[in-house]
Amino acid sequence: MAKMSPLSQPRPSLQLVLILLSLVVLPCLPQPLPSPSPSPAPPSLPLSPFNERLEAAYVAFQAWKHAIVEDPKNLTVDWCGPFVCNYTGVFCAPAPDDPCILTVAGVDLNHGRLAGSLTDHLGLLADVAVLHLNSNRFHGTLPASMQHMRLLYELDVSNNLLSGAFPSFLTSLPSLKYLDLRFNDFDGQLPDAVFGRELSLDALFANDNRFNVSLVSGSLTNSTASVIVLANTKLAGCLPPSIGDMADTLVELILLNTSISSCIPPEIGKLKKLKVLDLSRNDLAGELPESIGDMESLEVINVGYNLLSGQVPESICLLPRLKNLTLVGNYFCEEPVSCLHIPRRDDRMNCIPDWPHQRPHEECIAFEHRPPVHCAADGCILPTL
Ligand SMILES: *[C@@H]1O[C@H](CO)[C@@H](O)[C@H](O)[C@H]1NC(C)=O
Ligand SMILES: *[C@@H]1O[C@H](CO)[C@@H](O)[C@H](O)[C@H]1NC(C)=O
Ligand SMILES: *[C@@H]1O[C@H](CO)[C@@H](O)[C@H](O)[C@H]1NC(C)=O
Ligand SMILES: *[C@@H]1O[C@H](CO)[C@@H](O)[C@H](O)[C@H]1NC(C)=O
Ligand SMILES: *[C@@H]1O[C@H](CO)[C@@H](O)[C@H](O)[C@H]1NC(C)=O
Ligand SMILES: *[C@@H]1O[C@H](CO)[C@@H](O)[C@H](O)[C@H]1NC(C)=O
Repeated sequence: MAKMSPLSQPRPSLQLVLILLSLVVLPCLPQPLPSPSPSPAPPSLPLSPFNERLEAAYVAFQAWKHAIVEDPKNLTVDWCGPFVCNYTGVFCAPAPDDPCILTVAGVDLNHGRLAGSLTDHLGLLADVAVLHLNSNRFHGTLPASMQHMRLLYELDVSNNLLSGAFPSFLTSLPSLKYLDLRFNDFDGQLPDAVFGRELSLDALFANDNRFNVSLVSGSLTNSTASVIVLANTKLAGCLPPSIGDMADTLVELILLNTSISSCIPPEIGKLKKLKVLDLSRNDLAGELPESIGDMESLEVINVGYNLLSGQVPESICLLPRLKNLTLVGNYFCEEPVSCLHIPRRDDRMNCIPDWPHQRPHEECIAFEHRPPVHCAADGCILPTL
C-alpha cells in the first residue's frame, strides 16, 4: 500500500490524494518502510478511505438515520454518501489495530434532540471508542449488538428516554471506563458486575432512573471507580464497613435520596482521596464518625436531611480543604466553633441550643426521648426492643 505515490497518478484528484495522504499515509510512516508490505494487498486496491469498516459503518449510519424520526437540528441531513467520516457528529481515526486504515472512532450527537431508536446496526461500529448521545430523545434500549464495541471507552446516553433493564452486555465490554446512563427510565436491579473489578469503570452515573441497587452483596464497595453517582435510586442494605476498601480510587460518592437506612461506619474515614461526599436525604442515624476528619481531601460534605444526632466532630471542621458543609435537617445538638470558618455551611433545622434557624424545641425534646441508636458491625442500625 505505502508504495503508491500520489505523484505517479496526479490526474484524478490531487486534492483527494493529499487528504488521503494526510489521513492514511502519515500514520504509516513511523512503520519500517522496507520491502513491500507482507500483506498481499492486491495492486488494484486503491489508497482509499473506503475500506470494509467504513462500508459497515455506512450501513450502520443509514439504518440509524432511518430509525431517527425527528431531527430538529438537521444533524443527519448530511448523512449521505459512503464517506461517513464527513457526517455531522462522526469522527474517524486510524484503526488502532491497523493504523493504515480509517475507521469510525467516535460519534458525538450530544444535545441533538434526535427522536427515534438505537438500531441494532449500531453494532457495526465495532471500533467506536466514544459514543456521546446525551440530551436526545432516543427510546427503547441499547441494542445488544453493541457488545461488539470492544473499544468502547466512553458511553454517555444520559438524558434520553431509554428504558428496560440494565443492558447486561455492558458489563462485558472490555474497554468501558465511563458509563453515563443518568436521567433515563431504566429499571430493575443494577447488577453486581457493574461494580466488579472485571468491568473496572472509572466513572458510573446511574442516577435518576428507576434502578434498585443492593448493598447487601458488598459488590459496590469492590468498585475501583473514582466517581459513583447513584442519586435518586433505591439502595437496599446498609453502608458497610467495607466502604473503606475504595480508598485507593474513590473521589466522588453521591448517594443522595437513595432510601438508605443505616449508620455511617467509621471506616469511611479511610477514603482519603474522596473530595465530594453526598449522603443527603436518606435515613442515616447515629452520629457522624470522628474519623471523617481523616478524609484529608474532602471539599464538600452533605449529610443534610437525615436523622443524625450528637455532636458534629471538630475533626471534620478542621479538614484543610473543606469548603462546603451541609448539616441541615438533622438533630445535631452541638457544633464546634471551628465550623464557623467553613465558607459554605448550612446547619439550619438542627437542635443546636441558642443558635438561629433550629428546629422547634418540642421536636428536639421528642427526639431526645427516642431510644438511642446502636450500630451493628455491618453498618446497620440495630433494631430497638
Ligand atoms: C432543517 O431543514 C428544514 C428543511 O430544509 C428547514 O426548514 C429547517 O429550518 C432546518 N432547521 C434547522 C435548525 O436548520
Ligand atoms: C469530505 O469533506 C471535505 C470538506 O468538506 C471535502 O473536501 C471532501 O471531498 C469530502 N470527502 C468525501 C470523500 O466526500
Ligand atoms: C426495587 O425496590 C422496590 C422498593 O424498595 C421494591 O418494591 C422492588 O421489589 C425492588 N425491585 C427489585 C427488582 O429488586
Ligand atoms: C469483591 O472482590 C473480591 C476480590 O476481587 C471477590 O472475591 C468478591 O467476590 C467480590 N465481591 C462481590 C460481591 O462482587
Ligand atoms: C427521590 O428518589 C425517588 C426515586 O427513588 C424519586 O421518585 C423522588 O422524586 C426523589 N426525590 C427527589 C426530591 O428528587
Ligand atoms: C454546597 O453544598 C450544597 C449541598 O450539596 C449545595 O446545594 C450548594 O450549592 C453547595 N455550595 C457550593 C458553593 O458549592
